[in-house]
Amino acid sequence: MFTRRRAPLREKITLITGANGEVGHGLIEHLAATRSAADVVVLDLRGLDEAMRGKVNRVIVGDILDNELINLLLNEYEIETIIHLAALLSTHSEFNPETAHRVNVQGTLNLLKLAIEQGKSRGSPVKFIFPSSIAVYGLPDAETKARAGAVKEQEYLYPITMYGCNKLYCEHLGRYYAQYYQQLSAMPSMGVDFRCVRFPGLISANTMPTGGTSDYAPEMLHAAVQGKHYACFVSEEAQIPFMVMPDAIKSLLLLERAPQNMLNHYIYNVSSFSLTAGEIAERVRASFAGADITFDPDPARAAIVESWPRDIDDAAARAEWGWQPEYDADRSFEEYLIPTVRAIYAK
Ligand code: SER
Repeated sequence: MFTRRRAPLREKITLITGANGEVGHGLIEHLAATRSAADVVVLDLRGLDEAMRGKVNRVIVGDILDNELINLLLNEYEIETIIHLAALLSTHSEFNPETAHRVNVQGTLNLLKLAIEQGKSRGSPVKFIFPSSIAVYGLPDAETKARAGAVKEQEYLYPITMYGCNKLYCEHLGRYYAQYYQQLSAMPSMGVDFRCVRFPGLISANTMPTGGTSDYAPEMLHAAVQGKHYACFVSEEAQIPFMVMPDAIKSLLLLERAPQNMLNHYIYNVSSFSLTAGEIAERVRASFAGADITFDPDPARAAIVESWPRDIDDAAARAEWGWQPEYDADRSFEEYLIPTVRAIYAK
């Protein structure tokens, strides 16, 4: 008499790509502190910083463009959620536009396909959490930017950077894979549960971003605490929205956990405060008396910042999944950025 062999159960995991970047670090620290990160498998070209390795289930050093690796993940795990953070940011992408396209677009496509295949094998859609950016916007001139105020999700979608084009297209890919993938086949796919937030410029007290164009804010702060001179590459008047890392993590996890029947959109702006570069410098100087900050705008990078909105309207996120930032500008500097950088650099 033969009994049917039961397949061993695959391990249920959350996959985080680009985990060694600054959002990845913030996310892993938060997950490790608040709930078990034991089901988290991370994938990053550079692995994961030593201090964080013990906090996750497994670290895979690898490339999201490597199809064999994607297949291995597909077969080895039951992936419930993919948090796809891997990307080349806007300044880096301008120096290597075709590489950026490969990483930002083909890499995202590979992961969406992985999510589709996983969904089929486990019988329910995989959650796909995707951080997009204010870089998807492109305002034509300063006057329009001033007039536009807080921009809504569907307005001014004319990005002037490769990164912005990549993110905007990937938002569309996500919507397509969620709703229309294999729409003409006899058995249409169940799709992916695609959920996307558009971040403003992010500022972390713990890490420095690499290759972004909103980086002047964190660079100013981290230079001041170390007593270094900082020449800001945009003018004092340049203004875009910002958010501190704890709120960025909060938004990703709040969206991930939102019941699907609450969500009427795939893409949501999230915002907390908007400051000019001059106002950021003032706040940094107020805390670090000798802060040596000058303004020496680089026209090309400044033009990118100029094309991004002064503020973004996040009413949909607030109404549908209860988004609310915890840190306004005052609290960001007084309770998070300044004390944390002081403590870190005092070590
Ligand atoms: N921080 C990003 C960048 O500067 C924009 O989202 O590229």
